[in-house]
Amino acid sequence: MESYLLSGFLGFVMVNMLFACGRRQVTFSRNYNIIWGNDHFSSLNGDTKVELTLNQSSGAGFQSKSRLLSGLFNMRIKIPHSKSPGVVTSFYLTSTEAQHDEIDFEFIGSNGPPYKLSTNVFTKGVGNREQIFRLWFDPSTDFHSYTILQNQYQVVFFVDDIPLRVFKNLGNEANYPTQGMLVEATIWHAEGWAGKIDWSKGPFKAQYQGFDIDGCVVSDPSNPGKCDYTHGDAWAQNQTLNAAQIAQYQNAKRKYLDYDYCTDKTRHPQTPPECQAPI
Ligand SMILES: *[C@@H]1O[C@H](CO)[C@@H](O)[C@H](O)[C@H]1NC(C)=O
Ligand SMILES: *[C@@H]1O[C@H](CO)[C@@H](O)[C@H](O)[C@H]1NC(C)=O
Repeated sequence: MESYLLSGFLGFVMVNMLFACGRRQVTFSRNYNIIWGNDHFSSLNGDTKVELTLNQSSGAGFQSKSRLLSGLFNMRIKIPHSKSPGVVTSFYLTSTEAQHDEIDFEFIGSNGPPYKLSTNVFTKGVGNREQIFRLWFDPSTDFHSYTILQNQYQVVFFVDDIPLRVFKNLGNEANYPTQGMLVEATIWHAEGWAGKIDWSKGPFKAQYQGFDIDGCVVSDPSNPGKCDYTHGDAWAQNQTLNAAQIAQYQNAKRKYLDYDYCTDKTRHPQTPPECQAPI
């Protein structure tokens, strides 16, 4: 009996260890393809880390093989060194419909600090919903975790598990991302919008880790249909932030919010409905 319990316990430990290692070891090429800038892309550490390079000739980008309707999308990112105005490093979800949906993280290169992270939500081709945050760390010195939760209730942007932004589904299809989306990441040259690039500081290199994708895969892009949320995916159940997350969110918003479309009366004379929705 005792040895039975012991071997059961050891089996349990081993399964957990395998699972933990398995998650860490998901390779880039299992879930992603490079889509442009092939010679500005390197696969490192047994394909568990990749590097995208921007120089005067090109940047680079990659894309998930599958299309997803919702999920918990996480990427660990280290952006190019801190003297990089004009360089944009991104991680986002996008549909390919003519009037597309998109949920973005974009690092706006700077001579930081401050280090600015822009977030945006496009629905049916319309964006203009930018919120920019000043990061409380230098994102070019270490990997940090950037996460988008999207389910039928809300979109939440997290940095190192701290919720920075919540975008509620108010039941209006025109105002919520409902199309199957691809996960993408790029480094590109946004001179003018993001500042002037000093090419003598280049090439600019961004690194990405964490290529497992936890979401609802949809097969038909033109008709994503509905996901089956009954099989217990944890991310599908998060209808609101919990009490601890609300406290983190309020604190982060107060300390780090740099630009908010919700309060930009020039662009939005009338406050958009999602800005007034309770968290
Ligand atoms: C940019 O990088 C590519 C790939 O490494 C290289 O072939 C090209 O010469 C570089 N261009 C410039 C302008 O440095
Ligand atoms: C979802 O909710 C559970 C329970 O409150 C919480 O432990 C978990 O961190 C939440 N996940 C996200 C991504 O917010």
